[in-house]
Order: sequence, then structure tokens, then C-alpha cells
Amino acid sequence: MSIELVDLHKGFGGDDILRGFSLTIPEGQTTSVIGGSGSGKSVMLKHIVGLLRPDVGDVWVDGENVARLDQESVYRVRRKVGYVFQFAALFDSMTIAENVGLGLKRMEGYTSAKIADRVRECLDRVNLSGFESRLPAELSGGQRKRAGLARAIATEPKYILYDEPTTGLDPVTTAVIDELIMRMADELGVTGVVVTHDMNSAFRVSDRVAMLYDGRVRFEGTPDEIRASEDPIVRGFIEGRPELMESVL
Ligand SMILES: Nc1ncnc2c1ncn2[C@@H]1O[C@H](COP(=O)(O)OP(=O)(O)O)[C@@H](O)[C@H]1O
Ligand SMILES: [Mg+2]
Repeated sequence: MSIELVDLHKGFGGDDILRGFSLTIPEGQTTSVIGGSGSGKSVMLKHIVGLLRPDVGDVWVDGENVARLDQESVYRVRRKVGYVFQFAALFDSMTIAENVGLGLKRMEGYTSAKIADRVRECLDRVNLSGFESRLPAELSGGQRKRAGLARAIATEPKYILYDEPTTGLDPVTTAVIDELIMRMADELGVTGVVVTHDMNSAFRVSDRVAMLYDGRVRFEGTPDEIRASEDPIVRGFIEGRPELMESVL
């Protein structure tokens, strides 16, 4: 089983963002999608959970086409997928425990005692033990990202989507988050999709890397393969040298 995005096209008011984006995300691995700001990384990610529907194309999650499912079936598929939003997206007026336990309330068999146990377990996994009664405003940026990650794993999803998990963090905090992403894969067997423009982070955590450029996958391969690519668009992006990219236009 896997996630397969096939020939996705998506535009907003005449602006074509995705123009034939295809990518297979194999189970049990971590795949990063890199690309410039505004290239459509978050738009791509939202298609996987049916927050956006493509104009054209298919979104297969374990053999079900999210692009065509009715809303109720989309909710069912969504339960398999944890989403770590770009800005953590915690509810400000709720404690960290309430935020992390939110998705569990709707799940069968979860009494408040069981939710509290599970919340403790998840906070422990992201090294936030004892933060239950804090409010999001009382946490640092890196801690908020970790709380967002704890919330995403609480319901034991098979897939986790990470939207810019390290953007805006200092190098040490970035390394902590990268380490957690790798642990989710190794210890929980989670299939990860990481969207980022942080190249070091992408190379560190990924089994495979795909570069989104001009609405399509420009390159797809292992971190070593992308580092060895001679495509000026790829080189220009990973080396931060726009002049290489311009020579192709
Ligand atoms: N819901 C929306 N309505 C209109 N435009 C959108 C919407 N979502 C994204 N866009 C536009 O699509 C483009 C790609 O956005 P996004 O996927 O967020 O880029 P990024 O690669 O930085 O994550 C941007 O120009 C953005 O303004
Ligand atoms: Mg984005």
C-alpha cells in the first residue's frame, strides 16, 4: 500500500499551481518534497487528505481515490493520516494536553483516563513530558512544533505529513525535529511525507527526495542521487544559485 499522486492539476483563479504532478510515496519510507516558496508544496500536501480536490488527476491512498470519494469516506481515509501543520496550528485557548488529545475524543473506547494516558505517552515521545497543563503561548517555537507532532501521532496514523517542520527554527532545534521525524519512521513504522525548502533537513531525514518545480516533479531519487544531479534547475536550487536555474529559462 502507498500514496500515489497521479497527474495532478490544480489552479486558483487562472493561476496553475500543479501542472501534472505525479509522485509515488512508498510505504515504510520517508519521502521529502522540496521546492521554492510558493511552488505548491502545501497545496500538494492538502490533496492527500482531501482538504483540496484536484482539477484533474487522482490521489490514491491505500487504493482509494481521495479525489473522487464522498466527504464521509474522505474523513475515514483522513484517520490514517496525521498532519503536522506549518505553524503547529494549536488551539491557543486549550492546554497542550487538550490539543494533543483532541483527535482521540472522537475515537471509540477512549475514556478520559485513556486519553490522558495516551497524551502522556505522546508527549513523552517528543520530549515534552510534564507540559500537559501549559498553554501554547507558554512554549517556544520548537516546543510548539513538537506538540503538533505529538497531536499528529496520538491517533496512531499510518502516514504522517509534515509541512515545513523545521522552517524558522535554529539549527539545534532543527536537528531535534529531524531526529524525531526519523524516530517516528524507525520506532513506529510511520510512512512520512515531508514538505520543506530546508535542503539539509530533507537530505537528513529522507529515503527519497522529489523536487517540485513548475508544477511537476523535476527530479525524484535518493538524497545521493539528487546531490549528484547535473540538471541546472536541481543544482541551482540545492546550491542556492538562481543563476544556474535562469540559464535554462
Ligand atoms: N486556497 C487557495 N486559494 C488561492 N490560492 C492559493 C490557495 N492555496 C494556495 N494558493 C496559492 O498557490 C500557490 C502555492 O502555494 P503553497 O502550496 O502554499 O506554496 P508552498 O510551496 O510555499 O507551500 C501560492 O501562490 C498560493 O498563494
Ligand atoms: Mg507551504
